Amino acid sequence: MKEMPKWKAEFFDDVLDGEWARLFKITVPGPIFKFIVFCDWHAGNETCCYSGIEHLCRYVEKEGLPWVSLGDLVENSLRESAGSVFEQNLMPHTQEKYIKDLLYPIRNQCLGMIEGNHEYRSKRASDQSIAASLADKLGIADRYFHLSWEGIVSLDLRTYEGSRHPITWTLLGVHGTGGGYSPGASLNAIHKTERVYEGIDLTICGHSHRDSSDSTNLYGIRMNERMQSPKQYTRQKFFQVCGAAMQYRKSYAQRKALPASAREQFIIEIGCKRMQRVVSDKKIEIIYKYKNSEAFPLI
Ligand SMILES: [Fe+2]
Ligand SMILES: [Fe+2]
Repeated sequence: MKEMPKWKAEFFDDVLDGEWARLFKITVPGPIFKFIVFCDWHAGNETCCYSGIEHLCRYVEKEGLPWVSLGDLVENSLRESAGSVFEQNLMPHTQEKYIKDLLYPIRNQCLGMIEGNHEYRSKRASDQSIAASLADKLGIADRYFHLSWEGIVSLDLRTYEGSRHPITWTLLGVHGTGGGYSPGASLNAIHKTERVYEGIDLTICGHSHRDSSDSTNLYGIRMNERMQSPKQYTRQKFFQVCGAAMQYRKSYAQRKALPASAREQFIIEIGCKRMQRVVSDKKIEIIYKYKNSEAFPLI
């Protein structure tokens, strides 16, 4: 196993206008940070790529990669759900145990996790939260965003420990809602977060099972440090929809003539373009997609 990541996580409970939120700050002793996004494995569904996600978790353990989970890790079809209970090859309580066993060796590499609509089914049916219980059993309840379906992580990238010139990235993870089966619809859904959150550099989401990305530049004016004259600034924002781990044949997508899931999970590297004393430009790179290939079989 590679050396464990040297990043440091701190958690802050903050109340704004009577609303509580848990804020996460990750300090990284370097100008680049690489992490992987887990989403939409749907363990328990007969089309889940079991051997792929098992291979993926072993890879993440070997590389010491930090991970974020955006939900729908379990299928969790209940009697009243849209999905059929007869299309599951693991029952819901076994699905949770399966995911717990899979994530246990890499639990300390977790940056944050949220629930998806499939985990939420249990909460709606019986007030039992699969995602909260999973986080608890993994000993990472402090990294579970339990009041909402989204979480914000502030990443503080520094060229060396104690540097006074950090590059701050603010990352928003959402599970996603709505159909979003066309490339445009999945991007529209992720762009909707802009109506709610300000100052986010990178938004990642799952749910639509697609591989879509976008970036945009926002322009603004702010006063200079001495409040003497206004200056222009731009801020580049990035959006990534992060795939799934499901096969097409015999799937819900095939039955409904929907596009097949993008059988991919994303490793994302963020950092800055210029390694100078004052760093202003941010960059993002999808290092590679952990996808169905000989090296990374997601089957
Ligand atoms: Fe999903
Ligand atoms: Fe979903």
